[in-house]
Amino acid sequence: MGKQALGFNKALDDIAEALNSDITTSEKLRFLVKAAARALGVKGCSLMLLDVQRKRLFHAASQGLSERYLRKGFLEAEKSLTEALEGRVETIFDVATDPRIQFQELARQERIVSMLSVPVKIKGEVVGILRAYSRTQREFTVVEEQFFISVANLIGVVLELGRFNETEKQLMEAKDEPPSLLTPLSLQVKPASFAHPSEEEFARLLDFYQIEWIYEPRSFVLEWEGKAAEMFTPDFYLPALDIYVEMTTLKPGLTTEKNRKVRRLRELYPEVNIKLLARRDYDRLLAKYGHGPLAGVKTRGVGRVLFSAPKIQKRVSQLAKEVSQDYEGHHPVLVGVLRGVFCFMADLMRYLTVPADVDFMAISYYGGEGGKAVRVTMDVGIELEGCHVLLVEDIVDTGMTLSLVLNHLKARNPASLRVCTLLDKRIRRLADVHLDYVGFEVPDEFLVGYGLDYQEEYRNLPFIALMEEEKTQRRSRDTKKRPG
Ligand code: PRP
Repeated sequence: MGKQALGFNKALDDIAEALNSDITTSEKLRFLVKAAARALGVKGCSLMLLDVQRKRLFHAASQGLSERYLRKGFLEAEKSLTEALEGRVETIFDVATDPRIQFQELARQERIVSMLSVPVKIKGEVVGILRAYSRTQREFTVVEEQFFISVANLIGVVLELGRFNETEKQLMEAKDEPPSLLTPLSLQVKPASFAHPSEEEFARLLDFYQIEWIYEPRSFVLEWEGKAAEMFTPDFYLPALDIYVEMTTLKPGLTTEKNRKVRRLRELYPEVNIKLLARRDYDRLLAKYGHGPLAGVKTRGVGRVLFSAPKIQKRVSQLAKEVSQDYEGHHPVLVGVLRGVFCFMADLMRYLTVPADVDFMAISYYGGEGGKAVRVTMDVGIELEGCHVLLVEDIVDTGMTLSLVLNHLKARNPASLRVCTLLDKRIRRLADVHLDYVGFEVPDEFLVGYGLDYQEEYRNLPFIALMEEEKTQRRSRDTKKRPG
């Protein structure tokens, strides 16, 4: 057997051992990529996975590539790699002249000359590509290609196993449930364990809203100190939203240090979107779903009035005027998401000067346990195909509800789809949804009144006010209530 074939055998032996060991899915992927690069004798290797929309590729594990190259941005799946994404082997002999390369100058600086790409598949479906980068012009032999395809197949097995347990659990639990709002389970590299329970809870929340996430996706170099680098690894990356999330829910003493790192990251990597979830922000986010320490906070009742009844009426009539002008000559369908929206909807429609239909829908709430995905509990009855639909919300917070509902409505093929919300809690946004009409931007506080509730109370107030918290006393964590 030739030296190279022996090398491939050894690499596959090592890979088999790693796959059979007790390391996490991410660690297995890193091991595979590294072993492949070494055995092929190339500069580097990278596993790129398609996002849920199958439009962009992101680096999930890599070896031998600089930070600068890795953070060059997403690869548009349609522009390059068409052969690999269609399931074939793709060789680029000269990166400098090949039109399929999207970042030619960066590749040249990285000293990448030739590339070999093979598809990564799960049960026959292409989910990404495995790519080798060579410093010299290189034609890859059939044996080399075959070895690389074997590694890509093993990566498919690792990915499938990584999501197997979760999928199985979700399917078991979903058996008796109405169909989920979004059907395909996204491809997620699940960690064996989270550093902190709050991270696990956050992952469950994202799962509920079917938002794809990757735990500790990559490390950014912040500073070089001699030979050692100061690194920063955000907790989550949400590929479909292109946002990193760092949670500072551990020891409060670490928050200052994390803030500094996030600031530095933003300076060095301005194109990176990162959201810092401080403990208080996170507790508030969970309290909305009736979980976490703030869910049971005893209140002293209604505090400062933020928007008085006349102020609300004035703003709603202005919004209705704008809507009426924009829909002049049309007959829009106003769709509200229950329940908080009912006051706003009732006023908004009465101020409209164009004829309009009104309908409502409802979706399930995050229950805190894993395994369940959001679902429509009450759907719109009106046929929306070809209609001008205006989705009406009382408040947009993380944006997760809205992005799901919009996807659901888009599937009904309306002629147009716009969003009107009375309140915009922009500071808490995770899903970057476009809002066409906004009444007021509001701070990150518990709000009640004019449809918004605290533990199902206060919806009937004619104004919108802040809740006053009793900071010293706390109630049981299982209270069923969701402040607005
Ligand atoms: C509110 C609001 C939105 C959602 C927005 O509903 O009516 O539908 O929260 O939150 P998001 O942007 O974080 O997804 P809530 O869950 O409080 O229920 P309710 O309308 O029955 O009060």
